[in-house]
Amino acid sequence: MKVLIASPEVYPFVKTGGLADVTGSLPKALKKLGVEARVILPKHKQIPDNFPFRYRNLKVSCKISSKTVDAEIVESEYDGVIAYLVEKDEYFYRDYLYSTPDGDYLDNAERFTFFSKAILEAIKVTGYVPDVLHLNDWETALSAMFLKVHYKDDPLLSRVATLLTIHNLGYQGIFWHYDMHLLNVGWEYFTPEYLEFYGKINFLKGGIVFADIINTVSKKYSQEIQTPEFGLGLEGVLRKRSSDLFGVLNGIDYDEWNPEKDERIPAKYTVQNLEGKRINKVALQRAFGLSINEEVPLIATISRLSEQKGFDLIIEAIPQLFTFGVQYVILGTGERRFHEELQAIKTRFPDHFGLKIGYDNDLAHLIEAGADIFLLPSKYEPCGLNQLYSLKYGTVPVVRATGGLDDTIIDYNENPSLGTGFKFYGFTKEEMIEAIERALAVYRNKDLWLSLMRRCMEQDFSWERSAREYIKLYQLAMEKHGSNPGSI
Ligand code: ADP
Ligand code: GLC
Repeated sequence: MKVLIASPEVYPFVKTGGLADVTGSLPKALKKLGVEARVILPKHKQIPDNFPFRYRNLKVSCKISSKTVDAEIVESEYDGVIAYLVEKDEYFYRDYLYSTPDGDYLDNAERFTFFSKAILEAIKVTGYVPDVLHLNDWETALSAMFLKVHYKDDPLLSRVATLLTIHNLGYQGIFWHYDMHLLNVGWEYFTPEYLEFYGKINFLKGGIVFADIINTVSKKYSQEIQTPEFGLGLEGVLRKRSSDLFGVLNGIDYDEWNPEKDERIPAKYTVQNLEGKRINKVALQRAFGLSINEEVPLIATISRLSEQKGFDLIIEAIPQLFTFGVQYVILGTGERRFHEELQAIKTRFPDHFGLKIGYDNDLAHLIEAGADIFLLPSKYEPCGLNQLYSLKYGTVPVVRATGGLDDTIIDYNENPSLGTGFKFYGFTKEEMIEAIERALAVYRNKDLWLSLMRRCMEQDFSWERSAREYIKLYQLAMEKHGSNPGSI
C-alpha cells in the first residue's frame, strides 16, 4: 500500500501545533508496518536549511482562476521518510504560516487553493502515485474535490482514494464567495450541498463532502462534532456522512518525547528512578526565575494561547490558584489579548508565576520534565498531545473532560486504581479549581503521588496502534473508492 500524507505543516520541517507532530510521526509508524508513506507540504520560510533538498526539475503548473501558477517540487527526507516540498516563494516564503498576530493573510484562499492543486500535480510529476491521498485539515481539503471534479478521467489520479483527517473543526477555511473563481469549478458547486456555507465558501466542507472517508483524532470528538454544540455549523454535513466518519486517537512519538532518552532536558529519568525529575524541577524554577523549592507543587501549561484551550478560565482562576501555595508556569503564544492579560498577571505575582510568551521546543521539554501537574482546561479538544507527553514525563494531567482529553485520561477520584489524572466536566472556574484541589490533596501524600506518577509514565500511547487503525481506514477508503469510482 502506498500513501501520500498532505499537510500544511510537518515536523521536523515546520510546526505550529499538534498537526505537525502527527503528520511527521504517522509516516514513520506506517513504514514500520510495511506501508510506503511519504509526505507533501509547502516549502515554508521557516524550514531550516540543514535538510537535504534535491532539485530534480519537477515542475508543476496549476490554474488559479485565469492565471497559470508555476512551482517546483523539491524532494527531501527525514528519518527515512521521503518528503515533497512545494516551492513557491510568493505564497510560502513568509514570516508566518497562516496569520500574523493581527490576523490571517488576506490571500489564504489563493495560497491553499494553490497548495491543494499542487498536491495533485505533484503526484503526476514525481511518479509517486499513492493508493490513498491522506489529507489533513482545510488547507488540503479541496484536493478531494479537485480529484473528483478535475481529474475524474485522468488514468492515474482517478484511481487515488482520499481520507480527510479533521484535526480541528475550529479552523474551516471560510472565505467570501468572490474567491470562487480561484477554484476553477462552476457555480453549481456553490450550493449548500457542496461548498456554500452561510453565503461563503468553506474549504473544509468541500473536503467533508468529497473525501472517500473522514476521520477525526479521537472517538469522543468524532461524536461531539455531530452535535450543534461542537459542530460549528458543520454538524449537519458531518451527520450526513456519519457512516464514513471515524475517530482515531493520535499516537505520540516516544523517540522525541521520552524522559529516558530526552537530550533536551538536564537530567534523564525512568519509572524506576525518578531522581532526574527533581533536578529538572529545580532547573525549571530557575529558568522562570521562580523561588527554588522542591516541595511546592509546580503546575504548568504549554499551549497555543487561544480560547479553545480554556485561557479565559485560567486567567480568571490564577489569583485563587496562588492562595493554594503553588507555582504556575505558562509557555505559549497566540491571541494578543491573552498575551496582555497574562503579562499583567505576571507583574502581580512575579514570584509564583512564570510566563514565556513565545514558541520554544526545548523549554516545552523542560516544562514536561520539571513540572508536577499539567493543566489543560480546553473548551474543546480534538485529541491533545500535551496531556499524553505529560503522562510519559510523570507530570499528572488536570484536564477538562472533552474530546481526546476525555478519551485519554482516567479520573483518579472516580477510579483510584486506574486513574491517570484529574478531570472536570463543566467549563467553569469552580469545577476547574475543584479538580486542581483534588490533585493537590493527592500531591500532599508522597506515596500516593509517586504511585500515580508511575502509573502515568507506564501508559502507552505509541503510534503503532493508531497507525494500524489508519491502515484499516486506508483500506476502507480504497474499497469505497473502488466500488464507487469518480462519484461522491
Ligand atoms: P494544538 O495542535 O491544538 O495546538 P496539541 O496538544 O495537539 O494542540 O499539540 C500542541 C503541540 O505544540 C505540542 O507538541 C506542544 O508541545 C507544542 N506547543 C504548543 N505551544 C508551544 C510553545 N509555545 N512552545 C513550544 N511548543 C509548543
Ligand atoms: C489540533 C487539535 C489538537 C490535536 C492536533 C493534532 O490542532 O487542536 O487537539 O491534538 O490537532 O491532531
